[in-house]
Amino acid sequence: MSTHAEDDVISPMSTERSPSSSPTTAAPNVDRAVANRTRTFDNPRLRKDFAAQDAFLYLEDFLAPEVTAQLVQSARGLLGEVNRNYLPGHKQGGSVSRHTIDRLAPFIAELYRSKELIGWLEQLSGDKLQVSPADDPHAYALYYYTRAGDHIGWHYDTSYYDGRRYTLLLGVIDESSCRLDYELHTRNPDVPDQPGSVQIPPGGLVFFDGDKLRHRITPAAANEMRVSLTFEYVTDPNMRPWRRFISNMKDAIAYFGFRQVFRQMTRRGKDHA
Ligand SMILES: [Fe+2]
Repeated sequence: MSTHAEDDVISPMSTERSPSSSPTTAAPNVDRAVANRTRTFDNPRLRKDFAAQDAFLYLEDFLAPEVTAQLVQSARGLLGEVNRNYLPGHKQGGSVSRHTIDRLAPFIAELYRSKELIGWLEQLSGDKLQVSPADDPHAYALYYYTRAGDHIGWHYDTSYYDGRRYTLLLGVIDESSCRLDYELHTRNPDVPDQPGSVQIPPGGLVFFDGDKLRHRITPAAANEMRVSLTFEYVTDPNMRPWRRFISNMKDAIAYFGFRQVFRQMTRRGKDHA
């Protein structure tokens, strides 16, 4: 568990502890690793499946094994950085924001920006996708379910941006009974809601339009551990100021803590002072 006071201090020690900079583990070439996988898929078929499920796709085996291994190593290495949150009746769990990932696990940031990955997601969605703005702590983040009762209740990944926001959820560690329960077509009055449930193994993927998929993660039992990695891509990175405020407050309370969320803003403010 990190104390927030540590978040502003980047010491040589913390860099040396970085799982991704360990001299014993060479990070794989991300673009090549993604391309080697995606070229083996029946992509026209996947695109049809994505559209038929109202912008939702699950693949149990997506990432190259060497990429999954690197993510597992990073997730375990970042256990001491997890920010715990508890919102009675809605969510309980831990998270590591993109700001911490940038400092300690740059491989994840590289995967997020992979042109091969983004290009493949564009093929699936039919949308031109952009990375989320630099001050969005959800752009890429790790979510930890490590204590009995850790879960998140039914919700949408609502976009506060002007355009659509897609969530890519990658399985990293799953030594748990947690499931992603979901309901398709809830925003479409012409199609009956269609429930589903998956357990996402390491290297598995779920990709969806955050405003369309109603979903939850069921509670972890004692001595279980689940870590997922989510990437958020947007079609229009513009956000109106009032929505920005709501989004920041929600992130500060429900996910990453005030220091992580407002640090960027404070810095920006200082830059302009
Ligand atoms: Fe979600």
